[in-house]
Amino acid sequence: MEYQLCPSILSADFNRLGEQIQVLEEQGLKWLHIDVMDGDFVPSISFGMPVIRSIRRESHMFFDVHLMVTEPERYIQDFVECGADSITVHAEACEDLERTVERIRDAGVKAGIALKPATSPMEISYLLQEIDMLLLMTVQPGFGGQEYIEDSTEKIRQTRQLLKDEGVDIPIQVDGGINDQTLPLVLEAGASRIVAGSYLFRGDLRQNIGKAQKIMGRYSE
Ligand code: DX5
Ligand code: ZN
Repeated sequence: MEYQLCPSILSADFNRLGEQIQVLEEQGLKWLHIDVMDGDFVPSISFGMPVIRSIRRESHMFFDVHLMVTEPERYIQDFVECGADSITVHAEACEDLERTVERIRDAGVKAGIALKPATSPMEISYLLQEIDMLLLMTVQPGFGGQEYIEDSTEKIRQTRQLLKDEGVDIPIQVDGGINDQTLPLVLEAGASRIVAGSYLFRGDLRQNIGKAQKIMGRYSE
């Protein structure tokens, strides 16, 4: 299984965003997790296309765009044009999830579905063959720096089993509350795309990446 640490720039220092992305690249990280919030699907508002367009000019990382946006179908083309490599939409935010996934694929980028902690993967099992990644939120979407919801570990395990039963070989991404304590739990349960915001950006970025990579290394051997 291919493991990726996906730093969430929501916790970055926006005054030094370019510099910090450069550090991520220097440390060998390949994925950049980009959280877009609209103040409707989630209470908060983060940032949108202009920021993505501007970091795209300098970065070769894989732009993993997580849309916490109501009816994200409206913006797929815009996000592709400003540099997304992958677009993940919330099952709870789409009127027609199947069509939205199809539109993402038609736009030529990878498609992911995100589920809030209370949403069962069974609800989208009919679409598992159509997506490239399944994102399980391990906090309520909307803010960085929250505490990991403990029930998530079992949900990851069950989802891994569901994917196996369905014969679908896609990665599980987890997002929210990842730190030294919770990282081993999600890896053990079967997640391989690990989003981390405050864990990496609070304190020394290089050191924090090193710590996370060390833990992940034990699972990717
Ligand atoms: C939350 C976002 C996350 C957030 C994670 O709604 O989707 O990506 O940045 O932050 P931490 O890792 O600090 O919980
Ligand atoms: Zn996210």
